[in-house]
Amino acid sequence: MKTSIALTAVAALAAKASAACWSQKLGYPCCSSSSAQVWFTDNDGEWGVENGDWCGIPKAESCWSQPLGYPCCTSTSTAVYTDGDGAWGIENGDWCGINGNSSQGSTPNVGNDENPVIGSQYTHSGNPFKGHKFFINPYYTAEVDAAIAQMSNSSLIAKAKKMKEYSNAIWLDTIENMNNWLERNLKTALAEQNQTGKTVLTVFVVYDLPGRDCHALASNGELLANDSDAARYKTEYIDVIEEKLKTYISQPVVLIVEPDSLANMVTNLENTPACRDSEKYYLDGHAYLIKKLGVLKHVAMYLDIGHAFWLGWDDNREKAGKVYAKVISSGSPGQVRGFASNVANYTPWEDPTLSRGPDTEWNPCPDEKRYIEAMYKDFKSAGIKSVYFIDDTSRNGHKTDRTHPGEWCNQTGVGIGARPQANPISGMDYLDAFYWVKPLGESDGTSDTSAKRYDGYCGHATAMKPAPEAGQWFQKHFEQGLENANPPF
Ligand code: BGC
Repeated sequence: MKTSIALTAVAALAAKASAACWSQKLGYPCCSSSSAQVWFTDNDGEWGVENGDWCGIPKAESCWSQPLGYPCCTSTSTAVYTDGDGAWGIENGDWCGINGNSSQGSTPNVGNDENPVIGSQYTHSGNPFKGHKFFINPYYTAEVDAAIAQMSNSSLIAKAKKMKEYSNAIWLDTIENMNNWLERNLKTALAEQNQTGKTVLTVFVVYDLPGRDCHALASNGELLANDSDAARYKTEYIDVIEEKLKTYISQPVVLIVEPDSLANMVTNLENTPACRDSEKYYLDGHAYLIKKLGVLKHVAMYLDIGHAFWLGWDDNREKAGKVYAKVISSGSPGQVRGFASNVANYTPWEDPTLSRGPDTEWNPCPDEKRYIEAMYKDFKSAGIKSVYFIDDTSRNGHKTDRTHPGEWCNQTGVGIGARPQANPISGMDYLDAFYWVKPLGESDGTSDTSAKRYDGYCGHATAMKPAPEAGQWFQKHFEQGLENANPPF
């Protein structure tokens, strides 16, 4: 808010402000403060006495200006200044936020799309995915529209149009993208929430650790594994996320935390020097972000656990229990709701054709269902209190062409999997949701062998080519994912 407008210059306006509270419609003035002494209470509200007459005591209510350090207006509805945060009034010589007339029981002031009014604190209870409308990312909708413009097959176009009805995660994969997308989408979701009266859940992926993607090259990030970049991660990235989330308190949010990073800490420290270099920054980064973001009541976090063909083996799962338990306690008092599996991978939810044996390299968890069942038990035994999961089903509906489950880059034979939904499997109460974390159509990595972020996996036989850089639009991969959707569109 712009505080540069001198209060004295508008004090006269404040004096003229018409009081607004529930008692006015009954013919009584409003008391001067919501903390006035209560003399009588009836169905209308609490009554005080001022100037020898009854007055209605304005109900104390939370409003959008409180998180910004300003009280809510209790007796004025006259805006003396409006900015990106909302309409400001003046009371007792200070700015206050005008929250409409919600305390008087009339239609709440929900603002408009650009300036939605932030309501009172939302608090997750139980499954964070349950009971909400899932936010549709306008950036993805635009990507799909651009993809449709390149299509001529009408049945494919119809399928592509369906994509715009489903939610997927918003990746905050650089400081710049976080600055561009976090607040903008929170605001849009809030506007929708205000207009529909139904909670709108937005899912973000926190993805910018120093030394990111230490075991591969395709998604190496902007921050390097050194002290000064680690400081930037904290101050320019996590702190800003915290600040924005602390402002938009009235809507549910889910964060998927740093894909691949902790799984690399479980399996790739010995064999990959870059992962050893990153270790302390990954661990410190997690402790920092859990402490800061894990205390926010409207925010639920899931730590990434790779997928069935990464940590599914007995020894890996056991080690994972220790690593994740330690990471979670390092973030105390912050809380973690659970774990995200299969992010940006292709492992099917169920594959009854596979069982532990030479074909699976003796992995007893050859599909996501068996992996999550086993992880649930192991994480509980490791002493982790809150053990819930989500599974990324954006690209696991159809068995891909890969002959080895370690193939992760732009697999041919891709197909969309189960639609985003809460509590998808009855009897698996610890599975909070199927959700589309990786947006179908965004590449896993470039196949250009001369590119700095070229990873050999993106050149393998079952990786679709030519492929653009990770995160860039990959039309052919998108189209194949639509064709192979299972359940079909
Ligand atoms: C890329 C990110 C991108 C994300 C979603 C990752 O593989 O590294 O830049 O935002 O995928 O497509």
